[in-house]
Amino acid sequence: MKKIQIILFLNLFVISLTAQNKLPVYLDDSKTIEERIEDALSRMTLEEKVKMIHAQSQFSSAGVPRLGIPENWMTDGPHGIRAEVLWDDWGQAGWTNDSCMAFPALTCLAATWNPQLAALYGKSIGEEARYRNKNVLLGPGVNIYRTPLNGRNFEYMGEDPFLASRMVVPYVQGVQSNGVAACVKHFALNNQEIDRHTVNVNVSDRALYEIYLPAFKAAVIEGKAWAIMGAYNRYKGQWCCQNEYLLNNILRGEWNFDGVVISDWGGVNNTEQAIYQGIDMEFGTWTDGLASGKRNVFDQYYLATPFLELLQSQKVKEEEVNKKVRNILRLVFRTTMNRHRPFGSFATPEHGLAARQIAEEGIVLLQNKNNLLPLDLNTVKKVAVIGENAVKMMTIGGGSSSLKAKYEISPLDGIRNRIGSKAEVVYARGYVGEATAIQDGVKSSDITDNRSPEELIAEASQVAKEADYVIFIGGLNKHDGQDSEGNDRANLELPYKQDALISALAKVNKNLVVVIISGNAVAMPWVNDVPAIIESWYLGSEAGNALASILLGDCNPSGKLPFTFPVKLTDVGAHAVGDYPGKNGEENYKEDLFAGYRWNDRNKIKALFPFGHGLSYTQFTYGKASISNKFMQENETLTITVPVKNTGKKTGKEIVQLYIGDEKSTLERPVKELKSFEKILLHPEEEKTIEFVISLNDLKFYDDEKRTWIAEPGKFKVYIGASSTDIRTMVDFELK
Ligand code: GLC
Repeated sequence: MKKIQIILFLNLFVISLTAQNKLPVYLDDSKTIEERIEDALSRMTLEEKVKMIHAQSQFSSAGVPRLGIPENWMTDGPHGIRAEVLWDDWGQAGWTNDSCMAFPALTCLAATWNPQLAALYGKSIGEEARYRNKNVLLGPGVNIYRTPLNGRNFEYMGEDPFLASRMVVPYVQGVQSNGVAACVKHFALNNQEIDRHTVNVNVSDRALYEIYLPAFKAAVIEGKAWAIMGAYNRYKGQWCCQNEYLLNNILRGEWNFDGVVISDWGGVNNTEQAIYQGIDMEFGTWTDGLASGKRNVFDQYYLATPFLELLQSQKVKEEEVNKKVRNILRLVFRTTMNRHRPFGSFATPEHGLAARQIAEEGIVLLQNKNNLLPLDLNTVKKVAVIGENAVKMMTIGGGSSSLKAKYEISPLDGIRNRIGSKAEVVYARGYVGEATAIQDGVKSSDITDNRSPEELIAEASQVAKEADYVIFIGGLNKHDGQDSEGNDRANLELPYKQDALISALAKVNKNLVVVIISGNAVAMPWVNDVPAIIESWYLGSEAGNALASILLGDCNPSGKLPFTFPVKLTDVGAHAVGDYPGKNGEENYKEDLFAGYRWNDRNKIKALFPFGHGLSYTQFTYGKASISNKFMQENETLTITVPVKNTGKKTGKEIVQLYIGDEKSTLERPVKELKSFEKILLHPEEEKTIEFVISLNDLKFYDDEKRTWIAEPGKFKVYIGASSTDIRTMVDFELK
């Protein structure tokens, strides 16, 4: 080798050696995250540590500029990436490059009963957050649907802990595959908006562990969520954002959560408790949107100067701030300082496709007498579309999940685009609810209409009379007192006199389809006068296209209800024994375990439409279930198989549900509980045999005396069906 080459080689060797020595551990991603955390921590001053644990702006907290550790940027929400917000105000920053894809609401995702779509949803929304350089997505929400009046149910995944658990895990994994943390919220027991900042929830440990925690637990243990958001309300008298029981004992102690606990905005209100009772990052304490206070008060936050002074005077050990900073640095090394994470994408056609697919699979066909649907363009020449929700923008409003969407196809536009020249489409308003929606400075189109209800109904009836087919599109909207954060609905009924209008339409045209756009159940006094009914959720940017494709049968509906539609409020446990909404700041979940269909089963109450219900344009028959063994030993599993056949003329998807009931137990249990489900695609005449494997865990209940999950020997029933009440076949077995 020539001399020059030797010299060059030696130089390179020396450089690489010194370079290696020079790279500090926290910057060296060949080291473990825990090593990098300790090294970074050792380099930070006390001031830098305290700055990191509280907001520096509306949605960000400080990094360490001196060390090149980036800031942490949070963004709402569960259905899409919120428009950029001002530094210390809720107002929109007025950017022109932050119009996002609006994905369907999470009730719609839950209604797909399709974990693969949850994964697609999480990946897609995570790509949008990543592209917008946010490293924490403030979602998904998984609070259990306890009352149909809760203003924020549209952001959550229904009444059943097993369904919510199965759907939240892939969503979290999808988001985090982008190097963005999912921040699962609102932990815990935030099941209403009335008094959400103050109510103290009293609930049994059994109901807590069996109903209200499982989805959070699945998100943490299976989903490996990197962040959790504390709720506003209290539990056991402590605010959930500084709660010994929920944050220290359960989240950290029982579930070994190693992520970061972020307060809801304004959820922290005491320095001492915030130091010791589990919160890592304080947000929103004094911002114009939530509480009075001067601008730029961030240094006055409970975990800001007051905490720093306690540390400096040694009244509090530095280890207390180190614990919080370690969790935040772990977030940083998993996200912003992970060099290998992808770069995301924003408002792309792929995301539009994902949004449409989720919307189409989530729409629920509740009723379809005389197979009125799908609409047959060979016979139908004139379609009347009636109702405000056919033209109303639904991506704006509803509180923190409100979006500045790149586009939103309204139901009317979707139907017009799809039906095109084949049939005439005539629109009538029918009723006037709200003229405009505005949130974060994002204004919807103005649909003001000053005509009287009488004029509106008269016009709608006339238009309906002259059409072959009438599609009424109504329901709720994202305004206060409907499906919106901060308030609950006052009752179960449809607002704006829609019931009278629907009845009037049913009188003049028997070919009436009612499409309900909502995130909650509604009363339907006209249910027997209307042949076809669809629950169509808040579907986001692709709303009109997805709805049209279901109405025309391009897509065969396959969604099923993630919550019960009660006939009346007192058919719901929270209202029958309640004691929703609580009084004097106390609320007692006296219905205990019996939320949703568990209440209906226990009290033999017939639902308007039951949990798990949803029809198809084809038919499915179930054969007889068989079980691998009539006896089950503790350490064994059982296999249950059931043949399902598509006996109709269209390809379709069926959600086969498996419930288990414990025949006899020392503590009262629900009649049956959802323990497995599978969504299958079947072509006409095709039959598949579904296989379910049951293990001991599927038989357990939480014994709050022993403080552990137990399964008691004895007989168990297995119910297999197309909904929680449409049971097609059963088997039983005995646990030895
Ligand atoms: C709101 C909501 C929470 C949201 C946060 C930031 O009050 O409760 O879900 O992420 O504040 O907007």
